[in-house]
Amino acid sequence: METYTSARALIDASKPDRPVFGIRPHAAAQAAQWFLKNFPGEVAYAYKANHSVFMIGALYGAGITQFDVASIVELEDAATIPGVNLHFMHPVKSRSAIRLAYHEYGIRCFALDTEDELAKILQETGGAKDLQLFVRIAVPAKNSQVPLERKFGTSGPKAAKLLVKTRQVCDELGMTFHVGSQTTTPDAYINALEEVHRLIVKAGVVVDAIDVGGGFPARYSDSHPAPLSAFMDAIKNGFEKLPVANACRLICEPGRALVAEAESLLVRVDARRGNELFINDGSYGALFDAAHLNFIFPVRLVSRDIPSAELLQPFEFWGPTCDSIDRMKGPFLLPASIREGDWIEIGNVGAYGRAIGGRFNGYGSYLEGILLDEPMYTMYPVQQAAAAIG
Ligand SMILES: Cc1ncc(COP(=O)(O)O)c(C=O)c1O
Repeated sequence: METYTSARALIDASKPDRPVFGIRPHAAAQAAQWFLKNFPGEVAYAYKANHSVFMIGALYGAGITQFDVASIVELEDAATIPGVNLHFMHPVKSRSAIRLAYHEYGIRCFALDTEDELAKILQETGGAKDLQLFVRIAVPAKNSQVPLERKFGTSGPKAAKLLVKTRQVCDELGMTFHVGSQTTTPDAYINALEEVHRLIVKAGVVVDAIDVGGGFPARYSDSHPAPLSAFMDAIKNGFEKLPVANACRLICEPGRALVAEAESLLVRVDARRGNELFINDGSYGALFDAAHLNFIFPVRLVSRDIPSAELLQPFEFWGPTCDSIDRMKGPFLLPASIREGDWIEIGNVGAYGRAIGGRFNGYGSYLEGILLDEPMYTMYPVQQAAAAIG
């Protein structure tokens, strides 16, 4: 893999004919180090957010050895990392996935949110006595750009009953939740931990581990989250108030916050029509979130210099497929003179961009390069001074 000092250097040197992922492993490593130092518990990585070997290598090199996986394919990939501890945190798993995870890969940690799933886990592991079972509870999404409400999580009397039943059969009882991805204020975790508190009291069970999930924010052009330190403080306070806090592990499993900044997408303008730019990647590629969730990623022109006085103006993007939902409405602020043949760096797409991209219409094939410069926006204090914009 070639290394470049910047996106501009990559474009100049490699004259690509496809969209390019500009990977900044040092940014992922820095994010991981920050979490390992500041989160008041253990830090796992949600593998789904970005599976690039460079990203995983950077996180692992920084000290992340626990991974949350959601499928057998992720599990098989992650299991190749030496000495990893894998958590199978999808609340609905096939029987074959449970069998394979437990018997072939030695996974002991599973999430569940129903009695049916509990029964399934017990049946497929042969009534194992060494299970770490995390009951996923439903919590409201507050200031989350990607709420994960409704699909998973138990609540009220059902949750208390499930906690009691699970306690009776597991080695370690955990509780987990997800406040929604790109949660921009820490009160979501405060509310969630209060709900954990209420349920522990209601069920009257000893809980050995609390996993606060992911949800921690990244910076985007239209998203200015509270500092990550405020999230750490809120979680620490909420956790310490729990009646079980003294003898309980605390875990988080961020995806977005560890990798969002660490990857840019470099795209070429193939046509301009007024304020509409037709680019060579889109909603079926790495820009799903821009198209469907209206994320406004930071952008900059990288293929040529522009006079410093040149004004920026709002543009929208069309992706390369024939489909009219392949549209990223933005607005994305770029120099007024932008034209066909220009290359744009779209920053902070490291979370879920690469992971979601498909091959519709023959697109979705990328080149890659390592970038040594800093991400376009950062949440991490050390990088702040060096960040290119923001
Ligand atoms: C169970 C679980 N944990 C962690 C994550 C990572 O969330 P985020 O990327 O918002 O940190 C997800 C995302 O969907 C998830 O479903």
